[in-house]
Amino acid sequence: MSLTPEQLADRVLAWYETHGRELPWRHTRDPYAILVSEVMLQQTQVDRVIEPWTAWLERWPTAGELAAASRAEVISAWQGLGYNRRAVSLHEAARHLAEHGIPQDQAGWHALPGVGPYTAAAICALALDHDVIPLDVNILRILERSLGATELEPPPGRAHDLTQGLFDLGATVCLARIPRCDVCPLADLCPSRGQRYEPLRKQSTFEGSRRQARSRLLDQLREAPLALGSFDPALAALLIKDGLAEQVDGLLRLPR
Ligand code: ADE
Repeated sequence: MSLTPEQLADRVLAWYETHGRELPWRHTRDPYAILVSEVMLQQTQVDRVIEPWTAWLERWPTAGELAAASRAEVISAWQGLGYNRRAVSLHEAARHLAEHGIPQDQAGWHALPGVGPYTAAAICALALDHDVIPLDVNILRILERSLGATELEPPPGRAHDLTQGLFDLGATVCLARIPRCDVCPLADLCPSRGQRYEPLRKQSTFEGSRRQARSRLLDQLREAPLALGSFDPALAALLIKDGLAEQVDGLLRLPR
């Protein structure tokens, strides 16, 4: 007997009620607050997002307030999250929301800087209660293993909890390499039960070190501007291209 999409939804929803993680962005349906959480979660682990997300929402509770901040303030506040370009996109997205209002569909969200198809679907499911399941790598892994599918239609009105349940199942049970089938609510009907998987390909050391060097230079700029001769111009050019720095009168600094 194989698992049906309806069974998967029922079981994950029941499992989520008792095993779901307590995460602060699960208590809001505010599209702006959810946008901030999803952009932070794009490339940063959940544990490292909780504190910055909470501080961010205290400092800039609305898109209008974030839109009114300077680029330098926003880049400074992104410290510790990594992949700093996201700060620039989020600031631009907030300006768009402040000016044009909250998009009501996936296409409208997708038009914002830093919002890809996954993030657009996530905001529609989590903030606007649309009947859609966003497909990130973790959710896709569960669907492929258990259903042999690459999409899932949620029961009407349950997309929020089902999505959150799938995030949690992917993060704590249906792990990439060695899934914990012994505690999985889908295991008895899952065709992939008991399988092991190859290690994921790692980012190359070169890419890693270049990214690190850029990020270190930006950390220095968060402290103070740098004079010509005290930074690597090639790295500076990368930051400037991404809107993370500007060069004025021989000084490299955060954009005003
Ligand atoms: N990964 C992406 N979005 C998430 C969320 N809202 N909760 C937990 N993990 C996530």
